Amino acid sequence: MALLVIALLLAQRPDPPPAAPSLDYVFFKERVQPIFLQKRPGHVRCVTCHDHRSPLLQPLAPGAGGWTEEQSRRNFAMWKQFVVPGNPIKSPMLLHPLAEAAGGDRFHAGGKHWKSQSDPEWQTLAAWVSSQTVPAPGGAVRVLQTNAAGDDIHVIDPASQSVVAVIEDIEVPHGVAIAPDGTRIYVSDEALTTLDVVDARTLKVVKRIPLSGRPNNVDVAKDGAHVYVGIRQPPGAVDVIDTASLSNVKSVPVKGEIHNVYVTPDGRHVVAGSIAASTISVIDSATHTLAWTLTLSAGIRPMAFTRNPDGSTRQIIVQLSDFHGFAVVDFAARKEVRRITLPDPPGEEKETQGLQGSPSHGLAITPDGKMLWATSKYYHSVAAYSLPDFKLLKVVKVGLHPDWLTITPDGRNLYVAVAGEDTTVVVDNKTMKVVKTIPVGSVPKRNASGVLRTN
Ligand code: HEC
Repeated sequence: MALLVIALLLAQRPDPPPAAPSLDYVFFKERVQPIFLQKRPGHVRCVTCHDHRSPLLQPLAPGAGGWTEEQSRRNFAMWKQFVVPGNPIKSPMLLHPLAEAAGGDRFHAGGKHWKSQSDPEWQTLAAWVSSQTVPAPGGAVRVLQTNAAGDDIHVIDPASQSVVAVIEDIEVPHGVAIAPDGTRIYVSDEALTTLDVVDARTLKVVKRIPLSGRPNNVDVAKDGAHVYVGIRQPPGAVDVIDTASLSNVKSVPVKGEIHNVYVTPDGRHVVAGSIAASTISVIDSATHTLAWTLTLSAGIRPMAFTRNPDGSTRQIIVQLSDFHGFAVVDFAARKEVRRITLPDPPGEEKETQGLQGSPSHGLAITPDGKMLWATSKYYHSVAAYSLPDFKLLKVVKVGLHPDWLTITPDGRNLYVAVAGEDTTVVVDNKTMKVVKTIPVGSVPKRNASGVLRTN
């Protein structure tokens, strides 16, 4: 009897949680499998070889244009073995058919199908491996650079590292966010006190939604259903925009005027920071109500988030007013656990003009969660730290007044808004060297990157 009870208890035990992000079957079926069927000029299709010679794919039934549900499940089980979840550049599926010069393997008997990691097919596979939400086909990765003293946003193509379009007619665009399905760009408009909705295909403003007060930064929910706007005007709030009706549906009261607002990587929280109240307000994204707050010793500036193995939020990395560095907040314990000062290079003169109370105002974490970048206005540079140990790796000079940072979804390059030089500087995350300086608009600050649906 006792044995039977133990056996029953064991049988009921849930499976242990997966250590790495799990791979999505529907995404595989709908977005990855078509790549195996796609004919590329000068190449044999993946399916033509891999259904028999090196059997990684189920054979297509005679005349069939695709696989059945059961075959798709088998393909999924097979290809799972050729990827490292969360790590595209360690996944044979992405490296074997990728040109060696672009970081691929030396040889693939099936040839090199992608010249660069910016290839949209490669990006789709990378998104599957990294468990990211991805737009429908016809998308392309873009970096959006707002210009804080301008009335426009520059659109950069990371494949050519050049400006390919300009979004016009938004005076003082403060924050920018890309809808997860790539169809829209959301911009907080300081001049008109609106959230401006830009169509990703035409790059024209299609709607201006009135806000409860002067906005600062914005972010969008992982499912795309809501946009959150930080309201900088007292008493401060986070406005919630419903993206189906394109209307302002709620103004969540928080502690103090809001400068920056972020949706955490797991999508469960909206984190807003106040300079005036030195307080971080954490909002539950399911109920749109304030969950908890944490007051630190100085104004809250940009933030970034590290993740636990299950994807939940582990730490908030936070820059503070008049502090040349950043603090680390343990999300579960709700307290500051560490403070790191950026290096003072010996003999170098400090920049002191126009710091706007923020000697370090820009953070970015690579998609694999292994590296953190922070800007230094004092020394015209960006500093790289390894995660989770916060060891200084390198300091890279980028120019006068480096501000906001963004990293493309493939993790390859860091884009630094260099406010004092009207440029966006591109740093290679592997070599940690500047690879390109792109002229943009007047005093570039906030930026963002992601896939835009371009047709
Ligand atoms: C012309 C035939 C051919 C085509 C087309 C082809 N492959 Fe291959 N592929 C092979 C052969 C043969 C091998 C085994 C030898 C090798 O590793 O290069 C292989 C190996 C691989 C491997 C490594 C498997 C292992 O056991 O480590 C992967 C992953 C792969 N191919 C993916 C693809 C993808 C994805 C495509 C389409 C973009 C593709 N292949 C197109 C012939 C082909």
